[in-house]
Amino acid sequence: MKDIFAIVNNKGGVAKTSTVGALGCFISKKKQKVLCIDLDPQCNLTFTLLGTTQPQISIFEVITNQAKAKEAIIKTNNGYDLLPASSSLYNADTTITNVGKEYKLKEAIQPLLKSYDYIIIDTPPALGILTVNALTACTKVIIPAQADVYSLQGISTLSNTINAVKQYCNKDLKISGILLTRYNPRVILARDIATMIENTTAKDLGTKIFKTSIRECVAIKEAQAQNQDIYTYAPKSNASTDYKNLVNELLKGK
Ligand SMILES: Nc1ncnc2c1ncn2[C@@H]1O[C@H](COP(=O)(O)OP(=O)(O)O)[C@@H](O)[C@H]1O
Ligand SMILES: [Mg+2]
Repeated sequence: MKDIFAIVNNKGGVAKTSTVGALGCFISKKKQKVLCIDLDPQCNLTFTLLGTTQPQISIFEVITNQAKAKEAIIKTNNGYDLLPASSSLYNADTTITNVGKEYKLKEAIQPLLKSYDYIIIDTPPALGILTVNALTACTKVIIPAQADVYSLQGISTLSNTINAVKQYCNKDLKISGILLTRYNPRVILARDIATMIENTTAKDLGTKIFKTSIRECVAIKEAQAQNQDIYTYAPKSNASTDYKNLVNELLKGK
């Protein structure tokens, strides 16, 4: 195991799931064994890959001790393995309440660490028990954000949760960086807000904006509609180029 990335932002629609799928695809192209874990009750990644939101065994059964992680894993056509979500995860906040509840995912994936180089965790747009489990289990956080003012507000609440997890559950947790998504460098406001995020939000979090931004690119939506990964659907698209560069930036020195 080299790294476990949690892709986190309590705001929806900032490209968390799209980023998980693209990282899974492009990291596995580098001959690395990759597992993506869908921890979002909305099951977007699971549905895109499997066409269902009720797989036989999901991460819900795994973190509630009804199944082993290994039993839930499914091979995908996109180069990586998937530990799928199910809509039962909507019950997580009310059912996972016992002592040690923050460590359920970390414990569950322990036996898998020898089998994978990278694990990438998709999270829901909320700061409940599922996101706390992802932050506790991971080594690094990636925060996708759009260059708009609401994103700036969202990141400051997220930063409180990250700091609390760091203090109580995962002292080695690192914020790998803020990833600008759906970015349009020709829009002046987007550039201004990117500068603001760099100078204030990223500094407050003790992190940086990744050099690579992911440009707005319709091929992402089209690929998802066709249930294909972005590389297979449009290898020369801006999104493919950007995610490939991001993977090079992330894996530099590994
Ligand atoms: N670079 C991009 N260009 C255009 N659309 C994008 C891009 N990244 C993501 N999207 C679209 O934005 C929407 C939200 O993305 P998603 O990955 O589901 O975000 P989240 O998981 O944070 O809610 C989806 O419809 C997705 O297809
Ligand atoms: Mg999502």
